[in-house]
Amino acid sequence: MKVYKAHILYTKEKSSFEVLENGYVAVGTDGRVTGVSSDLASLDCVDVEVTDFGDRLLIPAMNDLHVHAPQYRNQGIAMDLELLPWLQNYTFPEEMKYADTGYAKRMYRRFVRDLWRFGTMRACVFATIHTESSRLLMHLFQEAGLGAFVGKVGMNRNCPEGLSERVEDMVDGYESLIKEFKNPSPLNSNLSPLVLPIITPRFIPSCTPEMLRACGGLAAKFQLPVQSHLSENKDEIVWVQELEPESTCYGDAYDRYGLFGQTPTVMAHCVWTDGEELELIKRRGVVVAHCPTSNFNVASGMAPIRRFLDEGLRIGLGSDISGGHDLSIFRMMVYAIQVSKMHYQQNHECPFLSLSEAFWLATKSAGSFFGRVGSFEPGYEFDALVINDSDLNHDHYSLLERLERYIYLGDDRQIEHRFCRGKAIPEPLIN
Ligand code: GUN
Ligand code: FE
Repeated sequence: MKVYKAHILYTKEKSSFEVLENGYVAVGTDGRVTGVSSDLASLDCVDVEVTDFGDRLLIPAMNDLHVHAPQYRNQGIAMDLELLPWLQNYTFPEEMKYADTGYAKRMYRRFVRDLWRFGTMRACVFATIHTESSRLLMHLFQEAGLGAFVGKVGMNRNCPEGLSERVEDMVDGYESLIKEFKNPSPLNSNLSPLVLPIITPRFIPSCTPEMLRACGGLAAKFQLPVQSHLSENKDEIVWVQELEPESTCYGDAYDRYGLFGQTPTVMAHCVWTDGEELELIKRRGVVVAHCPTSNFNVASGMAPIRRFLDEGLRIGLGSDISGGHDLSIFRMMVYAIQVSKMHYQQNHECPFLSLSEAFWLATKSAGSFFGRVGSFEPGYEFDALVINDSDLNHDHYSLLERLERYIYLGDDRQIEHRFCRGKAIPEPLIN
């Protein structure tokens, strides 16, 4: 049992923050919160030594629901094309390099270290088609102690030969990763593995019907989660309709292959989702990964997140490196609010996101994809950040204002400690 003292802020509900000035949170040996209170005596752990973080803020850690690890080297370049030519000209050539595990090791180490830096303790990650580079990335996450669902990418059409894999080879590669990684935590069988394969057909245009069927089959057979892209760009949507003419919407094209909520599913973007697709997402409990910087950079559009929230959809935030240029999920909250303000300009009946809504999306809402993650309520896994905002001119601000200023102005320099599933996580080595 461990007890931490600090100014504690988190969102139990999306509409407001819980704020505990000089509060305490108690964490059991299994890494789960056993209690949170302003009153130590009420936590039933009086003999336990308290780690006192003084005037610092203690908040749930960040969750990134959509990011491409092999695009990390392309971060901040190639912003001059829309999605489909962007993939062909910049993204596919970079991803082909991951046939070389030496290259993969150099890049993936930097990627994992930088996720850590920005306080992201859990992520849904795309790798590439390459089984051994994907395995390496999973080992790096395990060594770091971070939580990650990692997808070896399924692709076999409309791409360079070096990024196309035979369906049988895709299945064999997955089965070897599943054998290695899908076992319960040896120390505590109540806890699922922190690092787990996630079935990852890139998107409909990259996958033949046989590839999609095989992906759906793997998800069902091994009860694994699924991730992909959905309704990101208008040209893409037209192309999907040509490739899957019997589908009634893009989401239905996945659904026909068992890739749309039959197991826990996260779909990135949903910029143009409406009508039947929205209903299907709702019915199937599919989680939407909102990636506002990517949607700006590859000129996809602005996802209607207020509408999705009001419809009761499950939503989280994603950096979508390198369509997105920024790895910080704090910055993603700011962009999500700003996108919602642009919608508001067009329609005043569509209120923009509040800070607590954006924070809740990045923590409790996104965290639900990984289990009980993203809050400090009892039973939640203790994924947390300790923020020292003393260099952000914080005197005389309320605790909530201090958090708001950290979200808008802060970066990795103010994050002093990081915890994932109850464990303090040191900086991952890059050499
Ligand atoms: N759709 C298919 N592949 C990709 C990708 O790598 N990035 C983005 N943003 N969209 C995609
Ligand atoms: Fe993406």
